[in-house]
Amino acid sequence: MISNVLQIKNLQKGFKDTQVVNLSSLSVQQGEIYGFLGPNGAGKTTTMKMILSLISRKAGEIEVFGQPIGTDKQYLNQIGSMIEEPSYYPNLTGYENLLVFQKILGFDKKNIQETLKIVGLDQPKNKKKLVKDYSLGMKQRLALAFALVKKPRLLILDEPTNGLDPAGIHEIRELIIKLAKEQGITVFISTHILSEVEHIADRVGIINHGQLVYEGEIRKIQSNKWLEVRGDFRDRREVISQVLFGYPCKMLEIQEDKLKLTNLADQQISSLLRDLIVEKVPIYEVKQEQETLESIFLNLTKE
Ligand SMILES: Nc1ncnc2c1ncn2[C@@H]1O[C@H](COP(=O)(O)OP(=O)(O)OP(=O)(O)O)[C@@H](O)[C@H]1O
Ligand SMILES: [Mg+2]
Repeated sequence: MISNVLQIKNLQKGFKDTQVVNLSSLSVQQGEIYGFLGPNGAGKTTTMKMILSLISRKAGEIEVFGQPIGTDKQYLNQIGSMIEEPSYYPNLTGYENLLVFQKILGFDKKNIQETLKIVGLDQPKNKKKLVKDYSLGMKQRLALAFALVKKPRLLILDEPTNGLDPAGIHEIRELIIKLAKEQGITVFISTHILSEVEHIADRVGIINHGQLVYEGEIRKIQSNKWLEVRGDFRDRREVISQVLFGYPCKMLEIQEDKLKLTNLADQQISSLLRDLIVEKVPIYEVKQEQETLESIFLNLTKE
């Protein structure tokens, strides 16, 4: 049975008279990495804050681990979040900051050193460094340590790689995959780096003006492929149709200079091209194309 770790129904939020979130349904399943995407101001952070009870909601339901969230905030013990820069003590080290957190929340103290190692802040040179002297990337890592140190079952990460260098982005990405696939932690993550989402997410949801406009599996997006043929197809539509008749492919589009075909096996491509050339159809270029998250995102969110 697939169990939902997070389920949102008819969730609404407005500020003054403006509605900023209106999510009819969204669910995140156990162990998956769900990429929560949308342009600036779409409502991602606001949604995450409502899940974490940091702000109130106008209407709707949020269930975490099968329980509707309400006045009892116990569910937060099982969630690690990185949503805004945590309030650090700038004159303490990373370890000491986590120790303060440990005293408040009471999780196992041995988690601290383990977590600093996981996020890559355990090198001897950083041991004595005060947080006020941290680089942006180090602060991001410490924020991730805050999210992980209580060993949560669900991670809610709002743009966790913001401000990191390419190596840092790669490391955090690999870490998130490891946490999900090896430890079964469910991850709900927002980011603007679509190539990153394509690498890590199992599913994505795109919101625009507070509404979910797309939801799908990354694997399915990438398996949507077609063949794009560039040539001179003026006055050749009939002969092209006759040639295509012998193949199981589907014509997606035909223009004067462009033909898009799908559902063709590799062996059929060469034979089809040969047949077109025999019929004197001028062909200049042939390439395999596949759907990208970027094209879906741009199509659905353009103003
Ligand atoms: N406290 C607030 N008061 C008034 N308006 C707010 C408040 N918080 C957020 N908003 C508005 O709600 C909308 C959604 O903001 P939100 O921060 O959720 O967007 P986002 O999808 O996280 O964007 P980004 O990608 O830029 O982080 C925006 O128009 C924002 O201005
Ligand atoms: Mg945001």
